[in-house]
Amino acid sequence: MCGIVGFTGKHQAAPILLDGLSRLEYRGYDSAGIAIRDGEKETEVIKAKGRLKILAEKTDHGASVPGTCGIGHTRWATHGEPSTANAHPHRSDDGNVTAVHNGIIENYQELKEKLLRKGYVFHSSTDTEVAVKLVDYYYKKYEGTPVDAINHAMVRIRGSYALALMFKDYPEEIFAARKDSPMILGTENGESYIASDVPAILKYTRNVYYIGNMEMARVKKGEITFYNLDGEEIEKQSRVIEWDAEAAEKAGYEHFMMKEIHEQPKAVEDTLNSVLQDGSLNLEEMGFTEEIINNISCIYIVACGSAWHVGMTAQYVIEDMAGIPVRVEVASEFRYRKPLLDKNGLVIIISQSGETADSLAALREAKEKGVRTLAVVNVVGSSIAREADHVFYTLAGPEISVATTKAYSTQLMASYILAIQFAFAKKHITEEQYKDYIQELETIPGKIKRILEDKERLQWFAAKQVNARDVFFIGRGIDYAVSLEGSLKMKEISYIHSEAYPAGELKHGTISLIENGTLVIGVLTQPELFEKTVSNMVECKSRGAYLMGLTGFGNYNIEDTVDFTVYIPGTDPHFTASLAVVPLQLLGYYVSVARGLDVDKPRNLAKSVTVE
Ligand code: G6P
Repeated sequence: MCGIVGFTGKHQAAPILLDGLSRLEYRGYDSAGIAIRDGEKETEVIKAKGRLKILAEKTDHGASVPGTCGIGHTRWATHGEPSTANAHPHRSDDGNVTAVHNGIIENYQELKEKLLRKGYVFHSSTDTEVAVKLVDYYYKKYEGTPVDAINHAMVRIRGSYALALMFKDYPEEIFAARKDSPMILGTENGESYIASDVPAILKYTRNVYYIGNMEMARVKKGEITFYNLDGEEIEKQSRVIEWDAEAAEKAGYEHFMMKEIHEQPKAVEDTLNSVLQDGSLNLEEMGFTEEIINNISCIYIVACGSAWHVGMTAQYVIEDMAGIPVRVEVASEFRYRKPLLDKNGLVIIISQSGETADSLAALREAKEKGVRTLAVVNVVGSSIAREADHVFYTLAGPEISVATTKAYSTQLMASYILAIQFAFAKKHITEEQYKDYIQELETIPGKIKRILEDKERLQWFAAKQVNARDVFFIGRGIDYAVSLEGSLKMKEISYIHSEAYPAGELKHGTISLIENGTLVIGVLTQPELFEKTVSNMVECKSRGAYLMGLTGFGNYNIEDTVDFTVYIPGTDPHFTASLAVVPLQLLGYYVSVARGLDVDKPRNLAKSVTVE
């Protein structure tokens, strides 16, 4: 949700900011802006509604705005419609403070009224303008340093923010503050960088600092000082980011999504290899000893979006394999439902970004209740990773496309690993089963590759679905969990209405939506449930549906029922989601491309949802 960047150094700032923003555009893309300061001169602010390329054209790709210090922003509207006036940066009328913001200031109305009484005038409908003017107000009132002014504002502001600010009296410097919204800072060769996320600055530096909650930073050229809320200096160690810059480029693919779909075999393999030792799994590095595992009475999986879909699959796998009761919940519900948690339970938060606001709040809720927490997270050093008791890093690398693919697949792999290890520790499976399951996991990357080799068939099928109005995905058990993800992939990037239903539930209402030619996709990878789902598909066919079946090689009799079949390689029924999801990702992708849509940046969405 919104991306921010900052730079102060020897080079020209604008091209670096625009480049950084282009890598953050997945966080929001309804407007963008930069503020550049050339030495002692006045800060120049340029903003544009729409995609970043409009701002780039407006500034001649940065060349028309000289200066070696600046901040930039790409916006996902919360307060106020997408417009040039609402785009960031915002500044105080006398140009004293200029800032960009990611997050939501919940009490902005109350603060705005206070500032209106003090004579401030507002030109946008944003909460950010309120924050900027509040900092300006305290700066002038106490005649202190920017750090004093910012911390006065921080104690008055409720909500979340990552702020990068420039002060008229401090040329060539940027100040930063953070609460619950992501922000990293980095230095290299006498230059300094600020960003919401790693890909924005990966090209320039891999040495980053994570600024903590309610902390501030003063950023000079090549030098960053951190402060706590009392304005006292605090020490921080930099961390080296292992991702390489190329991982955040398209590498010849037309879209990030397609590139990331193809990176799945490697991402899944890397994630497995990170805990595989001589044919066994080792979770001790993440702090899971046999004793700890044996004490786990139940599991609560909490996540949002596709990560929640992973949780749905994990529920079936863990309960069946390890015999541990599992409950899966959407984070935005969990956090407000006053959950009754078993003290010996384990709360697993699944999150690619590690910054999703609701997932982070759910983690805090669980910690407050004294329950052990495990984060399954992709972004190293993200808030959720830092705050959880245990962390399982998925090794998907940077995922840029808004619609997740490879991160989802690595999260699935992580949940199988947890299921197998928990099952073994709890003696729910024999050593032989344990080894067999692990060997089966090792075959999954190769099987995903095989599915990808046959993608043209799906492209052909997708071309015929371009004008579909509704699509229904049905399945039972793990196949239902896969249907949820397949349906989300379809609707989020193709804008075709789609729904996922447990196959047996369809007739309790939704079947009335089936008309002549409505596409119904049945996922049938679970041998025990195969015939049941076939029956439900036949029910749809009788009402005119056009059927696609997704099943394992060998189930050829499906062709008696369905109009189009996609086969996937066989695997243990617990792990079929990893294979079945791939054709559905490709289907969503190809339908979106065939409809001429912006696959990587679907309308109204953002990759990292750091607001409630
Ligand atoms: C957004 C993304 C989804 C993602 C969800 C949760 O909606 O578009 O792809 O699954 O957020 O994000 P997280 O970073 O917590 O996995």
